Amino acid sequence: MNIVVLGAGAIGSLFGALLSKKNNVMLIGRAPHVNAIRKGSLKIEGKTQFNKKVPIMLSVNDIKNPPDLLIITVKSYDTEDALKKARKIIGSNTTILSFQNGLDNIDEIGKIVDRKQTIAGVTTHGSIFPEPGLIRHTGKGKTVFGELDGKKTERIKNIVNIFNEAGIETTISKNIVKEIWIKAIVNSSINPLTTIFQCKNGYLLENPILEKIVEKVCEESTNIANAEGLNLSFEDMFQKTREVIEDTSENYSSMLQSFKKGKKTEIESINGKIIDIGKIRGVDTLMNSILAYLVNFMAD
Ligand SMILES: NC(=O)c1ccc[n+]([C@@H]2O[C@H](COP(=O)([O-])OP(=O)(O)OC[C@H]3O[C@@H](n4cnc5c(N)ncnc54)[C@H](OP(=O)(O)O)[C@@H]3O)[C@@H](O)[C@H]2O)c1
Repeated sequence: MNIVVLGAGAIGSLFGALLSKKNNVMLIGRAPHVNAIRKGSLKIEGKTQFNKKVPIMLSVNDIKNPPDLLIITVKSYDTEDALKKARKIIGSNTTILSFQNGLDNIDEIGKIVDRKQTIAGVTTHGSIFPEPGLIRHTGKGKTVFGELDGKKTERIKNIVNIFNEAGIETTISKNIVKEIWIKAIVNSSINPLTTIFQCKNGYLLENPILEKIVEKVCEESTNIANAEGLNLSFEDMFQKTREVIEDTSENYSSMLQSFKKGKKTEIESINGKIIDIGKIRGVDTLMNSILAYLVNFMAD
């Protein structure tokens, strides 16, 4: 399969490198990463370890034919801009796959590409991008993909197959929108609270006040999801959040990592979008509003 990975950062470089073992993959990334890989190779360390000179470019300008699959792995706030720049290589048979966190990516993609061409995924793999040319696979996880309408189409089966062949354990979800919501609910407490308190994920369950805030945020985010028609149980969502905190207790959340690097965070795609939907549906948004306000205040 011909694959372009738009946004060769932590997760895009890891998945791109794994897929490149059996597919034609082209990564699109920033100059320092492009130069480091071209001069040497892409080094993957941690839970997965190998070195490979994966093809990488600064832009899609030199790509001649539309790829079969365009994987979007830029941060959610870069989706529209990155896709506009890549629009010229998107053909009518190109499938767009987003793995990004947040609730606005599918709509952002829909501004540029026909919704029928888009599929979505959620992954619990963890990876970081310590320096150009180097990716650290910090946690092995599971990946699910789905058509937006939940159908088990030939294309979703093919794409899931190539991921499994690449060693990325992947299954098909009949309700990928629900999976995206579940991840957003879990992230709606963990990401901002670890950023505000500059702590590892595990501290959220060690400190009783923070544990209570996690519970309240989780309850509010679940209420908003349900007002949008999701039908999720608060008990399940709180249990899931606790499990993620326990499983990643030694990790620093992606939001805290972005904040520490002085980079923009995905707060608007997670809590910001939950607040927008809550307001439209007439559901209380106080907890999410406080967290979003504090993270944005700290970043200013
Ligand atoms: N990392 C994980 O473990 C993980 C797991 C699950 C989901 N996710 C989600 O996956 C998405 C990506 O996360 P990440 O951690 O991989 O982020 P990341 O390391 O910041 O990777 C994104 C990369 O894309 C680059 N980029 C942005 N616009 C571009 C463009 N137009 N052309 C070429 N490169 C461009 C960025 O460069 P600049 O930084 O210079 O802008 C950055 O190097 C996020 O939505 C995240 O929530 C990540």
